[in-house]
Amino acid sequence: MNAATQASLSSEQPDDKISPYSSFSFPNGQLVKNRIVKAAMEENLSNSELEPSDTLIQLYQTWSAGGAGLLLTGNVMVDARAMTGPGGVALERDTPLDRFIIWAKAAQSNNTKVWMQINHPGRQVYANMNGVVLAPSAVKVDLGKLSKLFGQPEAMSETQIEEVITRFGDTAVNAEHAGFNGVQIHAAHGYLVAQFLSPRVNQRTDQWGGDLTNRARLLMRIVDEVKARTNRDFAVSVKLNSADFQRGGFDEIDALSVVQMLAQKGIDMVELSGGSYEAPAMQGMTRDGRTLAREAYFLEFAREIAQQTAVPIMTTGGITQLTTVQQVLNDGVQLVGLATALAIRPDVPNHWQQHPNYQVPKPQVSWQNKSLQALAVMAMIKRNLHRIGRGKAPKFLMSPVLSLMNDQWRKMRLTKRYNQRQD
Ligand SMILES: Cc1cc2nc3c(=O)[nH]c(=O)nc-3n(C[C@H](O)[C@H](O)[C@H](O)COP(=O)(O)O)c2cc1C
Repeated sequence: MNAATQASLSSEQPDDKISPYSSFSFPNGQLVKNRIVKAAMEENLSNSELEPSDTLIQLYQTWSAGGAGLLLTGNVMVDARAMTGPGGVALERDTPLDRFIIWAKAAQSNNTKVWMQINHPGRQVYANMNGVVLAPSAVKVDLGKLSKLFGQPEAMSETQIEEVITRFGDTAVNAEHAGFNGVQIHAAHGYLVAQFLSPRVNQRTDQWGGDLTNRARLLMRIVDEVKARTNRDFAVSVKLNSADFQRGGFDEIDALSVVQMLAQKGIDMVELSGGSYEAPAMQGMTRDGRTLAREAYFLEFAREIAQQTAVPIMTTGGITQLTTVQQVLNDGVQLVGLATALAIRPDVPNHWQQHPNYQVPKPQVSWQNKSLQALAVMAMIKRNLHRIGRGKAPKFLMSPVLSLMNDQWRKMRLTKRYNQRQD
């Protein structure tokens, strides 16, 4: 029996219905108090030095008080020259750790664990932000009329690839030094690692492109680097697309193979999501004609993958009710991720214990332009993150137009601040 199987059997009885509030122990021995995980949400709440601001720290204090067992941070950049958006946090080799130490502590109150999500955006960098736009091949993001929002990527050289691998290691080492309990390598949602996995974006003919083993090489090398440079009790996990939901993209068969490759490396958990800017399946929208379940969008894939691997699996996407959380666990998936629900109701894990039928309301926008609609929903959710971080109650009902305008204005201000810093 391998470590992962042993770990999951130690905290559950085979025939019992697993309670969302039962503890879970990861293959490396780390224990979380329950199965409800706050999934990564980019907060855009850094200070001018790209470090966690007081608002960001307060937000995590509130989430840890809210009852989730594990908090995954919003993505933290491994390279301050390549940001997913303005106001993002970056943690590089020489970044001072003081504010990261406070952030980790705030997130760990109430016996909560915190893992830092670490990311490189690759080609998904806004054109108006200074810095570097890298990709496996020089293939630009295609968002129709909105494509000009993103920069034109350059195909990475071997040296640039090796540098990125080292950077993931540097960030993980610093996260461990700052007191985080683990990291999650972001290999989903169309960012750099997902770009290497995707046959649409990765058109290389060297050892980093072609068949799946080559396309997964960057991810495997990053996992090796992070594991080699951190201690065994520091958890290492990966967020992976169950599919890109685009014709000719990374699909479920690829996802299963990659999970099996990760299993060989003794990874602690794989979170299954889906989509990218081009096909935002993580918001319930696909671009290949397939429809997703109304709740727990990726459960079908997660269930199948969980059956075929001993690696603990988590799924995130569309979950707003405790009955769905229970359904995910009944289907053999070990952990359940919530993002939007925890932006609207940061204490929902605690609240469900008294009010099990409560459903978290999701921001609703119904516009013809689906890309704009997705931006408006994101803006509404982010506004709530900022409210919670400032000690205010989240608001469910807010104007999508005003939220979008507010978000655009804020982004402009933070982009200017970032560009001045980089000059
Ligand atoms: C405001 C916002 C920011 C997000 N930022 C990240 C991120 O930094 N990293 C990531 O892996 N996913 C990110 N996501 C995706 C969520 O983790 C999650 O996969 C997705 O929202 C679906 O889950 P939900 O329906 O519970 O919101 C973000 C989602 C939202 C709404």
